[in-house]
Amino acid sequence: MVTWVLHYLLVAFLIAISYNIDAASAGITRHYQFDIQLKNITRLCKTKTIVTVNGKFPGPKVTAREGDNLQIKVVNHVSNNISIHWHGIRQLRSGWADGPSYVTQCPIRTGQSYVYNFTVTGQRGTLWWHAHIQWMRATVYGPLIILPKLHQPYPFPKPYKQVPIIFGEWFNADPQAVVQQALQTGAGPNASDAHTFNGLPGPLYNCSTKDTYKLMVKPGKTYLLRLINAALNDELFFTIANHTLTVVEADACYVKPFQTNTVLLGPGQTTNVLLKTKPIYPNATFYMLARPYFTGQGTIDNTTVAGILQYQHHSKSSKNLSIIKPSLPPINSTSYAANFTKMFRSLASSTFPANVPKTVDKKYFFTVGLGTNPCPKNQTCQGPTNSTKFAASINNVSFILPNKTSLLQSYFVGKFNNVFMTDFPTAPIFPFNYTGTPPNNTMVSRGTKVVVLKYNTTVELVLQGTSILGIEAHPIHLHGFNFYVVGQGFGNFNPARDPKQYNLVDPVERNTINVPSGGWVAIRFLADNPGVWLMHCHIEIHLSWGLTMAWVVLDGDLPNQKLLPPPSDFPKC
Ligand code: C2O
Repeated sequence: MVTWVLHYLLVAFLIAISYNIDAASAGITRHYQFDIQLKNITRLCKTKTIVTVNGKFPGPKVTAREGDNLQIKVVNHVSNNISIHWHGIRQLRSGWADGPSYVTQCPIRTGQSYVYNFTVTGQRGTLWWHAHIQWMRATVYGPLIILPKLHQPYPFPKPYKQVPIIFGEWFNADPQAVVQQALQTGAGPNASDAHTFNGLPGPLYNCSTKDTYKLMVKPGKTYLLRLINAALNDELFFTIANHTLTVVEADACYVKPFQTNTVLLGPGQTTNVLLKTKPIYPNATFYMLARPYFTGQGTIDNTTVAGILQYQHHSKSSKNLSIIKPSLPPINSTSYAANFTKMFRSLASSTFPANVPKTVDKKYFFTVGLGTNPCPKNQTCQGPTNSTKFAASINNVSFILPNKTSLLQSYFVGKFNNVFMTDFPTAPIFPFNYTGTPPNNTMVSRGTKVVVLKYNTTVELVLQGTSILGIEAHPIHLHGFNFYVVGQGFGNFNPARDPKQYNLVDPVERNTINVPSGGWVAIRFLADNPGVWLMHCHIEIHLSWGLTMAWVVLDGDLPNQKLLPPPSDFPKC
């Protein structure tokens, strides 16, 4: 009897221990509520009403630890439809929580709510969240910080403090009206009026000195700056006067540390940098600046956002300190962009290995670039000619989103025949000299087409920029996966020569990569996440013009290789 009781207690004890260990590594559940609501806000001397989360601009910071479950209830109190994307979260089997409207869900309508429920598995670092419908993300965005598991150190010196700096683009006009007008007339969109750090344009703009982002630091410390480019359309160079930055992470993947004065982030990309402050109090303050990198032909906002790096001093006031200004690469400095991009390497350590697929099941070759659509009869357009509208495409297919259902829902119930086709071209139908003299015919076709992949397919994808209507960089973002960047170069990809140079040892792992202006990039990923996953240029106007497509990854055979069913509060179409 006694031994039986002891045995029972021992078993109960062991169960309790293993449960606790599980609980510790499985993480906790964190709840957030996002109330989508209007807010009056003044920038550049003008007051306007914007859509926000919880009345905040930028929106609230979401923090989790690797392994945690996040349950974020989004309640829509505005007249616009909304959906939120958790940019860079892998959403393993939980594609219903990914967020792009008409791709994985129908939007959350006025008065409705939806709980985005997902677990952060095998990821840690800086990500972000943003609205994923039309141009709502202009004001609906914020940081998503994933801390390492408890007691797991960073693979770099522990920072004294960590600070998110989120780059944005401010429009005096209503961003929704800007894109609607562009799509209607066929013209390029009106440029934004300012760039911002954490929502603040800074002293180089009209009446904005009081709206300046200030980073207060102490001497002799290491700060982790979590840089996020949430701008709609602009790639941005970022620098801090007289300070060197050490890059340690990109898109929530650790990289081999390297030093630089200027970083470049395309829209959608995140970069963690260490900032070591001066050992003793300097008698100066320092500008941090961001300004676009751009090689296209349209007009863009080429203005500069400035913030201030200021050393705290208990006795001295900052009033009479001189401000030291940095310089930035020229706006079209493709050489700077290329050299900078080449610096990124995976950490490739035993704790954080680079699991790049060494063999490839499927190879794809996609051209990405601009093009044209015909102007409707009885209308004069303002595209490249007055009989055309601007468009953009992948392999000459300009993507049309469904508007009555989502790709994922129609796939899940097996009724997608009237929603999408599975014949997305795996290579250009009419090959041409992609980066040479552009073809006379620049018309794109329109369609809703996907590539279907079997579970666990290893994919190699070459993304080739084109010179149609001008060469330009395209920050391509893949939902649901990270990929490895195994090669890149200028001109046309050469299948005989270029693969020999691939880096299969320590290629950088990311979720968003620039296709170089007038060049190509090769990526590899393992299709181990069942669902429907959008891949698109994160320059918002290019996405609006159709520079996107979707991958359908089928379920695997095992129970844990299948897409989970949709949650009960899933927004009905
Ligand atoms: Cu951050 Cu589909 O986007």
